[in-house]
Amino acid sequence: MNLRIAAPSLALAAAIGGLLAQSPPQARHEPWMDKNLPPDRRADLVVEQMTLDEKLLLVHGAGGFESAGAISNGGAGVIAGIPRLGLPAVQLADSAVGVRAAAARGRYATLLPSTIAEAATWDLKLAYEYGSLIGRELRDQQYNSSIGGGVDLMREPRNGRNFEYQGEDPILAGKMIAQLIQGVRSQKVIGDVKHYAFNDQETGRSIGNVKLGKRAMRETDLLAFEIAVTEGQPGMVMCSYNKVNGDWACENRYLLTDVLKKAWGFQGFVLSDWGGTHTTTKAALAGLDNEEPGGHPADIHFGDALKKAVESGEVPLARLNDMVHRIVRTEFAAGIVDDPPLGRVVDPFRGAETAQTISEQASVLLKNADNQLPLNAATVKSIALIGSHADTGVLSGGGSAQVDPPGGGSSRYGGRPVWFPSSPLKAIRAKAPKAKVEFDDGVNAPVAAALAKRSEVAIVVVSEPTSEGRDMTTLTLSDNQDDLVSAVAAANPRTIVVLETGGPAAMPWIGNVAAAIEIWYPGIKGAEALANILFGDVNPCAKLPATFAKSDADLPHPTIFGGGLRPSQPRGAPPAFDIDYTEGLKVGYKWFDAENKEPLFPFGYGLSYTTFAYSGLKASAESVSFTVRNTGQRAGAEIAQVYAGLPAAAQEPPRRLVAWEKIQLAPGGSKTVTLKLEPKFLSIFNEQKDDWELLPGEYRFFVGGSSRDTPLSATVNR
Ligand code: BGC
Repeated sequence: MNLRIAAPSLALAAAIGGLLAQSPPQARHEPWMDKNLPPDRRADLVVEQMTLDEKLLLVHGAGGFESAGAISNGGAGVIAGIPRLGLPAVQLADSAVGVRAAAARGRYATLLPSTIAEAATWDLKLAYEYGSLIGRELRDQQYNSSIGGGVDLMREPRNGRNFEYQGEDPILAGKMIAQLIQGVRSQKVIGDVKHYAFNDQETGRSIGNVKLGKRAMRETDLLAFEIAVTEGQPGMVMCSYNKVNGDWACENRYLLTDVLKKAWGFQGFVLSDWGGTHTTTKAALAGLDNEEPGGHPADIHFGDALKKAVESGEVPLARLNDMVHRIVRTEFAAGIVDDPPLGRVVDPFRGAETAQTISEQASVLLKNADNQLPLNAATVKSIALIGSHADTGVLSGGGSAQVDPPGGGSSRYGGRPVWFPSSPLKAIRAKAPKAKVEFDDGVNAPVAAALAKRSEVAIVVVSEPTSEGRDMTTLTLSDNQDDLVSAVAAANPRTIVVLETGGPAAMPWIGNVAAAIEIWYPGIKGAEALANILFGDVNPCAKLPATFAKSDADLPHPTIFGGGLRPSQPRGAPPAFDIDYTEGLKVGYKWFDAENKEPLFPFGYGLSYTTFAYSGLKASAESVSFTVRNTGQRAGAEIAQVYAGLPAAAQEPPRRLVAWEKIQLAPGGSKTVTLKLEPKFLSIFNEQKDDWELLPGEYRFFVGGSSRDTPLSATVNR
């Protein structure tokens, strides 16, 4: 939501200061404060005590940012507390890649690498650490709930928010976000998942109507959400702005009640995206529990209008009680009532260390002709570093996922790209102190090429700023960066391209460069992580969580739906438009496989400075085991992937990811792993039965280092 708010007044700042210096809650002895009771029982007991007005207070926010007044901790929203009953305010802070709205109050938060980078680690423990860091820094800043957790699938590689999501595969995305949410929850902060569902593009996000059949819904984006909800146990699910099959997501009974609450057993509460509530009765009956950001009760759907609807019986009191129960049971379950955050100074060093590790594990080596990388710090004499403000910093993604830059300045919406102070130039100079390292801004390609020509090695950093609220119109890099790379590559055969993007980019020059590495938006220690990889102190091991297409023409939809519509939330009443996902089940690599199209780089792809060999596949319907050996000279990690081809009767795309393992190996070392296969991941969704079904027949398993490089295969009948 486009909220631009002036800096808080001194008086307000003083009031907030008082709020931050909160002391531990006084011991209370009401029955619902008994920590030994289950959260649902405690919620029942306290909801019984509430007046109708108190109940209504909980089902809408009190305003966004400072508009909520002194009860706000500075975040995007706040649900008022009920002090007489000992219920705290729920302080909601955007926190997709770190805590937003921190610097607005002079507070610091760690900028992590984007979540698309976290997904590229394929590392469940790192996903948990990612979430724990966010949870810890939220708590430090006295927020008790997170609104990060984005897991919309990358159906549309030009979506401006792909950097805050987890890639194109529902199982990888779901497993990773579930761990991230667990990490947030480990800090006694309410975790969430968003934007439910199919908010897979920003263009016309609040008027577009997604069309998709039930089977395709359940097996693609909704499978990611299902894993997130059942394994991550978030307390909140944020419904999205768009329509799905004719109904707004925030009043879509199928999504909110039939699937989320009934089929998946979600016990927490559904909150609307900011301004995403359109009606009172329809939304309440469909399953929406909380309207955000709220504001004056008379102006909103879940304020006075809901009161009237309850009083007239249009919305049964039992439904209001259920909404309130869900919110309060979430507060008890998360621990924010018994153990509220008291505030601490964020530890920037600890945060930076985690950010750097994740970036090192997330950077994908795409090309390394003749082992150009790693560079030898002892022998390299001169390096040209070109483009993308690489003398100064690293790029971050924009919109509500933006972490405020250290040193002041809020990053609110709609702003220009923000570069964080982690300088590739300095980091490279520190690694190779004897080399002459010169920077050129890349604005003038011939000038940059001339510098490249007189240098031993040329490193070109290309970048693509992306943000909430707008999509890219094309996979082609902006600002003639392709011409820049081509000019530099023509001048110097040892040209290394570093990409700072929020998702896939086309690379028409890839055949002419020596090496390429995708570092995404790499976070507050992105430059240091990059230097460690360039000079071989870290051996890259990440794999792409999304297909990189050669060009827009190869995508299921060569132009984006509603193209030309912007900003994303037009005023007035523009005609709604359909987002007809005719590709159905064939999202990402499944499309490329089914259509026999050659991608630029396939899903699951990524190189290492060492090599791996696979052998000894044994497969059954329950598990697969195989051996991976490090056949090179360096220690390294391989992310070994298992894909399944379902029986022909299933009418599925050729293969789907069903399991993976990150295996760390010393040179010459080998390891045999056995990976369990979850029956659901081998199943299809049967619309007639409205359930998952594991079909009998022939299953083929493929094992290897990417979706298109699977040296082992086996057939199993079940
Ligand atoms: C975004 C959400 C965000 C909310 C609050 C919305 O515009 O879509 O992701 O959490 O604003 O800032």
